[in-house]
Parts: sequence; structure tokens; C-alpha cells
Amino acid sequence: MKILMVCLGNICRSPIAEGVLQHKADKAGRNWLVDSAGTFDFHAGESPHHLSIKVALENGVDIRHQKARPFKANDFDDFDIIYAMADDVMQGIKKIAGDKFTPKKAMLFLDELNPGKGEDLKDPYYGPEKGFHEVYELINSTCDVIIEKYQSIP
Ligand code: 4NP
Repeated sequence: MKILMVCLGNICRSPIAEGVLQHKADKAGRNWLVDSAGTFDFHAGESPHHLSIKVALENGVDIRHQKARPFKANDFDDFDIIYAMADDVMQGIKKIAGDKFTPKKAMLFLDELNPGKGEDLKDPYYGPEKGFHEVYELINSTCDVIIEKYQSIP
């Protein structure tokens, strides 16, 4: 299974989500590929935010190898599930994907944790380190749900 995590810059939230889900999938023996992208391209080629790297490493997940890349319409051909970290991200995904947008593949990330609530994973970019820890905890819990939900898919 191929899963894509998408946020705005691909430097704060989605790199953590990619790292955490890939780590859990590998540990569970799943042959999953997890990637991430951003709906804005102004951080393309950059490493994740230093606080995303720090918080992930403190939790045993190394995301230092990642490089930001823009979301593209063809990602709907290449991935089975595309998670948007927030509603503004989902709007960006729709705009970029155009005709390729496939509703059954695209989902708000936190809807896995709290179904039907339509919650956004808040952008920690402008805030203090605490925001990155909060984001990490929500991502960790949500990825546990995803691992459980798709346990039949090797
Ligand atoms: P992300 O956070 O979408 O979680 O990567 C952001 C990173 C950068 C900016 C906004 C959000 N920015 O405006 O540069």
C-alpha cells in the first residue's frame, strides 16, 4: 500500500506523519511505502523543520533524510490513500489535482482518529516547540489507528 501525507510546506507536519507511519508499518512487517508532499512549493528541496526533526528523534523516529517536494496531480495515480493534514491543505490538493482528484482516496488525516469531526492538525510553524510535541502526539495516535484499520493489507 502507498500512502501520501500532505501539508502546506512539507517541512513541519507531513514529514513527521511520513516518518511515524513508515516506522510503525516497518515494525509491523507491512510492505507499505509512505511519502509526503506540500501544496506550496516554497520549501521544496529543504530538510524538515529542525523542531520536527528534534521531536521525532526524541521519539525514536529519524526524519533527517527527508526532502520537501510539491504535491502533484499524478500523486493520485501513484498513491492509494492521500491524507490532508488540514482543510486548507485539502482545498489545495483539489486545486492542484483538478480532474485527477479522487474523493475516495483523499481524507482528512484526523478523521481517522476522530471520525466525522473534520478537525485540522494545527500548523506548528509559527509557534513554540510545545506545538510540535502536540502535533507529534496526535500524529502518533492517528498512525496507530491507521495501522489497525489496514491490518489486513500486507
Ligand atoms: P507545514 O507548516 O505545512 O506543516 O509544513 C508550514 C511550513 C511553512 C509555512 C507554513 C506552514 N510557511 O508559510 O512557510
